Amino acid sequence: MPILEIYAPIVADMNAVDALIRERLHSDVVLIRQVAEYIIHSGGKRLRPALVLFVANALGYQGHQHHELAAVVEFIHTSTLLHDDVVDESDLRRGNKTANALFGNAASVLVGDFLYSRAFQMMVSVDSMRVMQVLAEATNIIAEGEVLQLLNCHDADVTVNGYLQVIRCKTAKLFEAAARLGAILAGAPPEIEQPMADFGMHLGTAFQIIDDVLDYSADESETGKHLGDDLAEGKPTLPLIHAMQHGTSTQIACVRHAIENGGREDFPVVLEAIQSTRALDFTRKHARTEADLAIAALQALPASIFKDALLQLSEFAVARCF
Ligand code: IPE
Ligand code: IPE
Ligand code: MG
Ligand code: MG
Repeated sequence: MPILEIYAPIVADMNAVDALIRERLHSDVVLIRQVAEYIIHSGGKRLRPALVLFVANALGYQGHQHHELAAVVEFIHTSTLLHDDVVDESDLRRGNKTANALFGNAASVLVGDFLYSRAFQMMVSVDSMRVMQVLAEATNIIAEGEVLQLLNCHDADVTVNGYLQVIRCKTAKLFEAAARLGAILAGAPPEIEQPMADFGMHLGTAFQIIDDVLDYSADESETGKHLGDDLAEGKPTLPLIHAMQHGTSTQIACVRHAIENGGREDFPVVLEAIQSTRALDFTRKHARTEADLAIAALQALPASIFKDALLQLSEFAVARCF
C-alpha cells in the first residue's frame, strides 16, 4: 500500500505538522535556513511524526500538542541524518546531494546541532516532564548507538546480537519514543503505553533491517540513496553476517576482507556471496518477525482507522523499496 494512502486518516494532522516544521525552522542566520530547509523540504517519508499522530489519535487524543511532538521527532530524525551523512561520507540522500556534499561537513554538523537543540526548545514548550524524559533518553541512546556502530565498523566478528543492539539504539529507539509519546499525550495507562513503545521498537527494528537489505538490493532512483554505502563504510550488517555464517571459505574470506577494508571494489563479489547464501531472504525474514511482534503489540489498541493504519505501516516497513 502506498504510504500516502496509509496516511489518509491523518492528512490534516500531517499538514499541520508540516506547517509547524516550516515555522519552527526559522533562524536569523541565513546559512541555518538554507541547510535546514534544504534537507527538511527534500521530502522524506515522515514516518516518525506519523507514528506520534496515529497512536495519539488511536487513543482518542483531542488536543494539539501531538503536532508539536511530531515536529520534534522529525527534527531529531533530520539532525541525525545530517550527522549520519557526514560520518558515513554519503553524498546522496532523498534523491539529492546530501547537505554535506553541498554545504560541507562543518555546516552539516552545526545545522544538525541547531535542529537538535531547536527540538529541545520545542519539547520544553509542551511542559511535561514525562515527555522530556522520554526524548532525553531517546536522543542519548541514539548517540550511543551511533558510537557503538562506529566501534563495530571494520569488525567482521560482530554477532547478530551486536548488530541488533546497534540498530535498536540508532534507529528503533526514536520509533519507540514517537509511539510512546502518542500514548503519553493521550493519557494512556502504563498497560497501553508499554505495548505502544514495544510496537515502535519492533517497527523501527524491522525498518532498519530492511534498510540494510536495500543497501544491497535497492533501486537508487527509489531510495534516493547510493547502493553499497554500508559496505563502503565496512558496516557489518545482517546480510553480511549471514553470508559469513553460510558461505564457502572463499566467500567468508572475501566478505571479511570487504568489512575490514571498506571501499566499493569488493561490492560485486560480496553481492555474489550474498546471493548464493540467500542472505537477503534470511534478513527479510528477520524483519518480518519484528514486524509480526509490532503487529502483536497493536492488540492493546481499540479498533479504529488509526490502528488499521499502524498495521499497514508495519507491512510497509517490510515490503518497502524506498
Ligand atoms: C533513514 O530513515 C535512516 C534510517 C533509519 C534508515 P528514513 O528512511 O525514515 O528517512 P526519510 O526521512 O524517509 O528520508
Ligand atoms: C541510520 O543509519 C542512521 C540513523 C538512524 C542516525 P544508516 O546510515 O543505515 O541510514 P542511511 O542508510 O544513511 O539512511
Ligand atoms: Mg548512513
Ligand atoms: Mg542504510
